[in-house]
Amino acid sequence: AAEKVELKDRIRRLLKERNAVLVAHYYVDADLQDLAEETGGCVSDSLEMARFGRDHPAQTLVVAGVRFMGESAKILSPEKTILMPDLDATCSLDLGCPIDEFAAFADQHPDRTVVVYANTSAAVKARADWMVTSSIGLDIVKHLHEQGKKILWAPDRHLGAYIQKQTGADMLLWQGSCLVHDEFKGVELDLLKAEYPDAKVLVHPESPAGVVAQADVVGSTTQLINAAVNLPATTFIVATDNGILHKMRQAAPGKHFIEAPTAGNSATCKSCAHCPWMAMNGLKNLAEVLESGANEVHVDPEIGRQAKRAIDRMLDFAA
Ligand code: 13P
Ligand code: SF4
Repeated sequence: AAEKVELKDRIRRLLKERNAVLVAHYYVDADLQDLAEETGGCVSDSLEMARFGRDHPAQTLVVAGVRFMGESAKILSPEKTILMPDLDATCSLDLGCPIDEFAAFADQHPDRTVVVYANTSAAVKARADWMVTSSIGLDIVKHLHEQGKKILWAPDRHLGAYIQKQTGADMLLWQGSCLVHDEFKGVELDLLKAEYPDAKVLVHPESPAGVVAQADVVGSTTQLINAAVNLPATTFIVATDNGILHKMRQAAPGKHFIEAPTAGNSATCKSCAHCPWMAMNGLKNLAEVLESGANEVHVDPEIGRQAKRAIDRMLDFAA
């Protein structure tokens, strides 16, 4: 505990000295989320992280999240220094969508508007017409569909299928998935709901269709937290990374949050509902990068310029 206090003090001091701001995702360690808020940074979903980093005047952004979040920050603000506690913090969606295969797929379908999820490399974004996050993907695809556009979607197949079902758009889907959300189980969720008949079910759309179908609210991390605060219920079953429970409990004190069931006893994962890459962000490596300036995120400037068009389209649409 003493070590924690000391590390937090060091981080506060270093953020000031470096004129740096901490931008954290809701899935990272609770201490990092609290520090980000307390020091004038932000803790939010991936859309707000991108917008906050772009608009904040600090010259150095420290992104506590996963690689694509650091890259998006760099793409939007090439003149800023972007640091991350661990540059190896990646994402199964990003890993499952390598640029060469993705470019070949897109080349085979030149008649389709290419829409990619934020959880991709800078190179994949550079090959896309639009980048979207979970909070706004549905609205953007709806808009494109109304314009008569056919869509090529990558990489998350569950989010793609959900959007396709909601909008009726013609969507060709890349078959990627998030290793955390893919573990939520529809049958077990159904059983849990029977135990808590008054509970509302909050689901991130990276979850399988059988789980999404049982949701009272489907949305991004910020949208799910807002639902936890605003819905007139006292018990919630939550199907997303369990890092989110920290903010839900803070924002809706007195309410009761239960993790949705996963194949938690399988050999493939110990704590299925927590992202192993988000978990690579800690107080210690955060303090170290602030001290040394190591772990700077770099994006090839030409790729960055092309990727920025796809991100800017989303941000302009959201504005
Ligand atoms: P949100 O955009 O809902 O924050 O989710 C992004 C994500 O998958 C982080 O892992
Ligand atoms: Fe990627 Fe899933 Fe981890 Fe989010 S929770 S960073 S989508 S692997």
